[in-house]
Amino acid sequence: MNKTRAAITGIGAYLPEYVLDNFELAKMVDTSDEWIMTRIGIKERRILKGENKGTSDLAVEAIKELLVKTNNTPQDIELLICATVTPDMQFPATANIICDKLGITDAFSFDVSAACSGFLFALETAAQYIQTGKVKKAIVVGAEKMSSVIDYTDRNTCPIFGDGAAAVLLEPTEEEVGIIDSILKVDGQGVKYLHLKAGGSVKPASHQTIEDKEHYVYQEGQPVFKFAVTKMSDTSVEMMERHKLSADDIAYLVPHQANLRIIEATARRMGLDKNKVMINIEKYGNTTAATIPLCLYEWEKKLKKGDNLILSAFGAGFTWGAIYLKWAYNS
Ligand code: UT7
Repeated sequence: MNKTRAAITGIGAYLPEYVLDNFELAKMVDTSDEWIMTRIGIKERRILKGENKGTSDLAVEAIKELLVKTNNTPQDIELLICATVTPDMQFPATANIICDKLGITDAFSFDVSAACSGFLFALETAAQYIQTGKVKKAIVVGAEKMSSVIDYTDRNTCPIFGDGAAAVLLEPTEEEVGIIDSILKVDGQGVKYLHLKAGGSVKPASHQTIEDKEHYVYQEGQPVFKFAVTKMSDTSVEMMERHKLSADDIAYLVPHQANLRIIEATARRMGLDKNKVMINIEKYGNTTAATIPLCLYEWEKKLKKGDNLILSAFGAGFTWGAIYLKWAYNS
């Protein structure tokens, strides 16, 4: 009997309408289109505007499209995992709120907090439920309203991040497609370089934390950059070696979109030409847990059944990893 694998069988996405480009940013902080394009590779990012709008609203729109595209109703879904570091609330999980808004009432759901690696951690978790036969239809959504934790007077962080969401459906298959392998890692020495200081149980919100701007992303860019280049490349190359994959065997690298220089370094180590790398950082910036599924969404029509994809990410924690999958359908 063939092994049951978990396969991605559809994708939906949602990007808010408002476009914050580098020229508008340059009116807010001392920066320029030229600096941001050469150092990071971002031209513009999307921002969710409107009172009482949160990460769940982005996810709901992405999942609505996914359900229509895959011909499923909310009642068909048994598990929903939301990868996010910008939850609607401290609790309950944003995944629960998403289910409520969509009328998914016959499922269990939870959030995964692994920052920019969140989609990979959540995808692997959902895949385990599918592979064991416990669940037949699972949704994994990467969704972030990063603009809710960004200080738009801090030029070190505000050009980098954007808002967005994308969701995939996972189903079992007996064919030689789907998720083949994963390498997922954490290293707590990364905490000090990239975190959000206040609002958790260690430092609850106070007048002082607000005055000290401790509810915004804190990042020391250079150490994060160095770790990201090393870990994303090492892990992606390790995955190739494990499965005896040459650069020719790989259809696409699907990298987390944090910095164009990190993506290019990873592709170089893997020996991949630029046309085999999904890159959309210029349009959306770093949408944290949403970058990888947003890439898959944009490239969906080009993907063919059996294509070998390496998904690769690095983020706060530190967290990082790679997933090797064979694409499961032609669209
Ligand atoms: O996705 C989660 C994981 N995160 C990452 O992967 C991010 C990794 N880090 C990076 O991508 C890069 O480190 C950054 C894009 C954050 C920063 O780029 P960098 O090349 O490391 O710049 P830097 O921080 O070393 O700053 C170089 C100079 C500094 O000026 P001085 O001290 O040399 O005079 C900064 O003050 O650039 C200055 N600078 C800016 N200048 C114009 C920093 N931000 C800006 C800005 N515009 N927005």
